[in-house]
Amino acid sequence: MSMDSAGSQQGAARILSGLLEARTGQILSEGRAWRMETALRPVLRAHGLEDMDALTARLVRENDDRLEKAVINALLNNESSFFRDLQMFDMVQRQILPHLHDQRSDHTLRIWSAGCSTGQEAYSLAIQLRNAWSRWNGWRIEILATDISSSAIEQARSGIYSQMDVQRGLAIGDLIKWFEPHGDDWRASPELRRMIDFRQDNLFDAREAHGEYDLLLCRNVLLYFTPARRQAVLKLLGRHSHAGSVLLLGAGETVIGQGDDFIAHPEFRGSYARQTALATHRMGSARRVG
Ligand SMILES: C[S@@+](CC[C@H](N)C(=O)[O-])C[C@H]1O[C@@H](n2cnc3c(N)ncnc32)[C@H](O)[C@@H]1O
Repeated sequence: MSMDSAGSQQGAARILSGLLEARTGQILSEGRAWRMETALRPVLRAHGLEDMDALTARLVRENDDRLEKAVINALLNNESSFFRDLQMFDMVQRQILPHLHDQRSDHTLRIWSAGCSTGQEAYSLAIQLRNAWSRWNGWRIEILATDISSSAIEQARSGIYSQMDVQRGLAIGDLIKWFEPHGDDWRASPELRRMIDFRQDNLFDAREAHGEYDLLLCRNVLLYFTPARRQAVLKLLGRHSHAGSVLLLGAGETVIGQGDDFIAHPEFRGSYARQTALATHRMGSARRVG
């Protein structure tokens, strides 16, 4: 590659990562920036484009929404798996769901998986609920699962997963009970699929979440946002939670130093509770005294 073409490829990479950040808030990690051309190869092929230079030229020249969407879908990190972080799902099953069950006298449970990717997180929760159905039978259960990626939402909605996908985290008993063979793949059963409402939605222009949720998950999504954007998302999640809600983030994510919408949950290690007016007041007095 000549110096000129290396320089222009770097320029193209900058433009494309700028586009990703402007549309989604995600900043490309160094590793993904390196692999940008590989990630975009199917898009280049599908649109008959030679390289990233040609791609950016087309994006700048033409207002091609479909191409822009394809680029964004290709650059997003959609990494997910069933029961990702088993310890956390264990806590959900043993402690958090029973706690919410005791708390909700109206027999309504509302869950929001924000940044759900291809759906494994939401299906894992649906499996946990179904496996304890005698407890939840007769309840109104709503699971909203949203993601900005239209291709990820499409796959999630189909409920179809490859052999490799189901081998990552799904117990054989759950696979047999809740999935059916679908060609070489597996498909989530209609009972599971019916439980989840998958919607494409941007966390910075959220239209699909309504009211308050008892359990909110926004895992491995905040990692690649700027601090200001993280705070904005936590504010949004705060607006959609109540004093008894539980928030779960990814293992490498925290609310500490990200505004005052959530605090460490007093009961469930590694999860978060909404900061109530009383707690804010107490902390304020403690700060003043100290
Ligand atoms: C690494 S995946 C995490 C999936 C799942 N929560 C998990 O932990 O397995 C991050 C997801 O966040 C989504 N995402 C990134 N920016 C977003 C935004 N602004 N609004 C909604 N979803 C977004 C990506 O499309 C991606 O599917």
